[in-house]
Amino acid sequence: MRLLSIETSCDETAIAIVETSGSKENPVFATLSTALYSQVKIHEQYGGVFPALAKREHSLNLIPLMRQALKDAQLLDICTIDISDEAKSHLSTTLSKEPDLYTALLSFITSYKKPAVDAIAVTYGPGLEPALWVGINLARALAYVWNIPVIPVNHMEGHIASILTAATTPVLFPSVALLISGGHTELVKIPRWGEYEIIGETRDDAVGEAFDKVARMLALPYPGGPKVSALAAEFRATGKTNPFTLPRPMLNTPDLSFSFSGLKTAVLYTIKERGGIAPEEMPALSCAFEDAVVDVLLHKTKKAILASHAQSLIIGGGVIANSRIREAFSKLTSQLNITLHVPEMALATDNAVMIALAGYLAYVRDEKILKTDPSTIVAKGSLRLN
Ligand code: KG4
Ligand code: ZN
Repeated sequence: MRLLSIETSCDETAIAIVETSGSKENPVFATLSTALYSQVKIHEQYGGVFPALAKREHSLNLIPLMRQALKDAQLLDICTIDISDEAKSHLSTTLSKEPDLYTALLSFITSYKKPAVDAIAVTYGPGLEPALWVGINLARALAYVWNIPVIPVNHMEGHIASILTAATTPVLFPSVALLISGGHTELVKIPRWGEYEIIGETRDDAVGEAFDKVARMLALPYPGGPKVSALAAEFRATGKTNPFTLPRPMLNTPDLSFSFSGLKTAVLYTIKERGGIAPEEMPALSCAFEDAVVDVLLHKTKKAILASHAQSLIIGGGVIANSRIREAFSKLTSQLNITLHVPEMALATDNAVMIALAGYLAYVRDEKILKTDPSTIVAKGSLRLN
């Protein structure tokens, strides 16, 4: 099955074309092309993602990205196509909230033949609803024009599936996934592909959010996670003893819950007590923060692995770009003698390849998903995995 996937849940606009083959138990994937536009620079001035702006940018960029992805996959065939008034009216209703997208789509579908893709996979949640709707509406419009099915995809299943292109051995089940991003911190038990149970999650801030908030306290631009991590590495390289110690919230609670808001507040108080933070102290404080995060993540994940008798650990989400965190989990899984599955770095942050992979898993779970009426797919901002 050849899938065209669409991701617009937050501030990345992404399209991918992925070919799936192999058995359902052991699917094989080939990425034919991928096109991604990051809006990070646009949102930087707001210190976070501004939903109305994200929606506008998705509307403007989806068709150019789709054209690029189809071209790179050698699926773009120039041809003049007539569109009936009835079809135009249907499309203009579908895209009534995205007039830019409607104009661009009309020009696209009258200039190119229907490409050789079998289905569309689109993220319908969780995420920012105004942003999600743009992708969903494009999927609905394309399904109508090209007469192909739409598979609605859970973005978090996408982060889990993101390891599939990098897995050199089949994933052993039961598995546990730790998903850490700007919006989520979740431990998920996976008895087999397509079955998920959230066994632990944050009670307040997500890990990425905490990194970004600490970065803001240090006057670093959004998204500050990578910058805090770079400062931490700078301090670690000095080999000095850290003058800062920070709490490890909920480290010893018997459950698998996390809390990062207290840690963030501890950083704030540390800065306040000192009447500010000098630039030369920032690496040590960043390091103390990162160490606290890593300790809590490791401790709770180890607990989840032992409680679930997991044979493997999957880690996914934007925060996985953090090399300290990856190293810590690599050590933990070798100690426990289980396999660690990590996505390729390019697929750790939001992208459309993972949406195609998760779309295929959703199909494997239940083939009837191909019969979904596209008009029933709606944006679900707080969609959960189970
Ligand atoms: O998965 P993602 O791309 O988007 C969401 O779905 O949230 O994750 C983005 C998050 C941001 O909070 C960003 O600061 C964080 O991942 N992040 C990092 C690093 N790289 C990205 N956090 C810590 N260290 C990093 N190296
Ligand atoms: Zn994400």
